[in-house]
Amino acid sequence: MSPITRHNGELHIEEVALAALAERHGTPLYVYSADSITRRYRAFTDAFGGHPHRVCYAVKANSNLAILELLARLGAGFDIVSGGELERVLRAGGDPASVVFSGVGKTVAEMEAALTVGVACFNVESKAELDRLEAVARRLGRIAPVSLRVNPDVDAATHPYISTGLKENKFGIPVADAPELYRRAAVSDWLDVRGIDCHIGSQLTRLAPFVDALDRILAIVDALETDGITLAHIDLGGGLGVRYGDEEPPSVAAYADAILSRLGNRRETLLFEPGRWLVAEAGVFLTRVEYVKENEGRRFLIVDGAMNDLLRPALYNSWHRIELVGTPAAGQQAEEADVVGPVCESSDFLGKARRLAAQAGDLLAVHTAGAYGFGMASNYNSRNRAAEVLVQGDRALLVRRRETLDDQLALEQLVGEGLGGGITARQANGDSR
Ligand code: LLP
Repeated sequence: MSPITRHNGELHIEEVALAALAERHGTPLYVYSADSITRRYRAFTDAFGGHPHRVCYAVKANSNLAILELLARLGAGFDIVSGGELERVLRAGGDPASVVFSGVGKTVAEMEAALTVGVACFNVESKAELDRLEAVARRLGRIAPVSLRVNPDVDAATHPYISTGLKENKFGIPVADAPELYRRAAVSDWLDVRGIDCHIGSQLTRLAPFVDALDRILAIVDALETDGITLAHIDLGGGLGVRYGDEEPPSVAAYADAILSRLGNRRETLLFEPGRWLVAEAGVFLTRVEYVKENEGRRFLIVDGAMNDLLRPALYNSWHRIELVGTPAAGQQAEEADVVGPVCESSDFLGKARRLAAQAGDLLAVHTAGAYGFGMASNYNSRNRAAEVLVQGDRALLVRRRETLDDQLALEQLVGEGLGGGITARQANGDSR
């Protein structure tokens, strides 16, 4: 159920008019519904009922502190992929003991930080990473809880850029290599083998790939058990898809049924890492039409939001529903147009061939923008990143102010003549003269 509805011709998110938020905070603007995230979190965890489980929200989907705080209050755990995400979770009041640390490239510093605060588990992706983690754990005198991320080699049938469970992807450990690595971890004094993990891709709209992956994981769990290695948890990653247009993703209840029925009598705790499913539908991206332009019979709505704000259309050719926030101006007919931003790239579009009765000055809503929207924004073309607003009921709070040019430029340094302030090549080599 979308939190966005039309009353008296005007789009609202929960009880707040989107046009009023755009007026107050400017555009482009991200707006999120707290109730939508709350409902979805509860639906996800309710779907698994009495089976021991934990929902670890994939922070990368939307890492705004207010959203992490909301999820922490609801009791969510977190799936992180960097030291930065760990810091966000901690500052938002998340419990480190509910955090799983994923990702193929964990640095020594990130491992140290995560061990020191006591995360629940490291999802280890290679032998080299296991060796590094063991060394860091020994040095800090803290035992590292580990789970191996296995690559089950199943086709997630999603966009190739967001498919991660095929053997040609960089993710995970091949099934054939897993037993030996588990034995290696099990004999270490500094590693505590906790579980097994997989994540096969994102925006999955069919159940079969999840079930195939689970079957392969369960076969490994059984083989390990025979070897005397017992696991406490099975982490099935994220990936459950949402509806952007005419997709028909399975309901979370169907997803849970499929998984629980495969599990039989097993009592291992299930971990999940949903990102998109929890936050995509909660978010809308607001952008205003600056110009209407006709080129050789093609109509363009040039808006103030761009690929630097919402990269998904440019990167994955993904489709987001776009509509007018208000009612069309008198006499304005719907016409087919490309909705494009001001960035100097032909891939800078938010939607193509959309029928919209829009003219310059109109406000557009780009739907289902709560996941992988702001989080993938950049300063390309020296554009300030958008502001973010969280709405609950009839209240709206600015949860990230719009970036300013001073924010953007603060980290840079003018040179002057001859790079006088720079270091010499000799100093770079460690010579202090
Ligand atoms: N766990 C791991 C290890 C992941 O890599 C991901 C997403 C998730 C969980 C959460 O997946 P979700 O439930 O959100 O599907 N930027 C792309 C999506 C990239 C997903 C990357 N990994 C997009 O905009 O579609």
